[in-house]
Amino acid sequence: MPEGNGPVNPEPSEAEPSGGEQIRPLATRRDFLVGAGAGAVVVGVVAGAGIAVTRSNGQPTQTVQTAPGQPAVAVAPPPQAQTQPQATAQPQAGGQAAAAPTQLPPTMRKVTLNIDGAAHEVTVDVRESLWETMTRNLGMSSSNLGCDRAQCGACTVLVDGRAVNGCTVLSARLGRGQQITTVAGLAKGPGVEGLHPVQRAFWGDGGFQCGICTRGFIMSSYALLTANPNPSDDQIAEGLAGNICRCGEYTKIFQAVKTAAADMRGEQVQYTANLAAFVAPVVQPAPSAANAPGTSKDFVFVTPLATIEEFEPFAAPLRSKPGIIDVQGSIQDVTVKWDPSKTDEAGVRKLLSDSGHPVK
Ligand code: FES
Ligand code: FES
Repeated sequence: MPEGNGPVNPEPSEAEPSGGEQIRPLATRRDFLVGAGAGAVVVGVVAGAGIAVTRSNGQPTQTVQTAPGQPAVAVAPPPQAQTQPQATAQPQAGGQAAAAPTQLPPTMRKVTLNIDGAAHEVTVDVRESLWETMTRNLGMSSSNLGCDRAQCGACTVLVDGRAVNGCTVLSARLGRGQQITTVAGLAKGPGVEGLHPVQRAFWGDGGFQCGICTRGFIMSSYALLTANPNPSDDQIAEGLAGNICRCGEYTKIFQAVKTAAADMRGEQVQYTANLAAFVAPVVQPAPSAANAPGTSKDFVFVTPLATIEEFEPFAAPLRSKPGIIDVQGSIQDVTVKWDPSKTDEAGVRKLLSDSGHPVK
């Protein structure tokens, strides 16, 4: 993603005299960010300060001005590898390449993104958007790209419960424990029954046409209804103001939000579309499994499933195993009901592990 039209902050290109005095009067903002791993720089970042780096007697020393007009303080220098990142990337005279296999370029970051309950360790460019990382680096398809400039909302995901545009949020800023939720993380199980009420309402009320905008609308609606369980038309309009539907399905989208709100409040809902043919076979739980006596327990996968589509192929064979009454769940967990006269929790855990999905 382009980082705006502003000039790209040049990386330190100033020649650094080897072995001599080096004076860099003031670190640029980018230097701050690039060196953020060094403890000394953190002091400057917090204080919004300038940093002067000097050397005397061959020993580098940093002084940090903690605020305009405040006295400078000496701080410990960062590790050597941090202070000369460029040197390792330059070919040596005589054709010898510098050996720095673990040193990332200053424009790259290794971050751990928590997406739909699963941690993804990924190396990203500092200018890379969350949408780019999810789609291109992680192979996810749970958000769409429309305008790529924060205007259409097609890329909407939640960060710590707030709807944001994935096309303009930088991945490098999201590795600090933030919880990222996409439309794939809303479903709690397979089939229509497992869909979140917002997802089911958009389907049942036909709140889409081409579908380009739908993931974004669902996420904005989810954020709205989580905060306001019974929004008025004006509040829905405000909550979805960042999303654009070029197919003009607004009437049905508003209806879907109202249906989802009623469903989430526990009310009986009726969808405008005739979904009986689709819903009935799936929504109706198997009477024998649902009502049969047995022991039920919820297990959390050691490694969450990549998509909810993986659940049924995993669960279906388990249901036919001796002593297993029912298996339901989501990408993150699985609820197993078993006949205690035929198996026990240890047996269930072994079955899950043998199926390739061990649980905690
Ligand atoms: S693609 Fe992100 S707002 Fe349009
Ligand atoms: S359904 Fe086509 S853009 Fe909204």
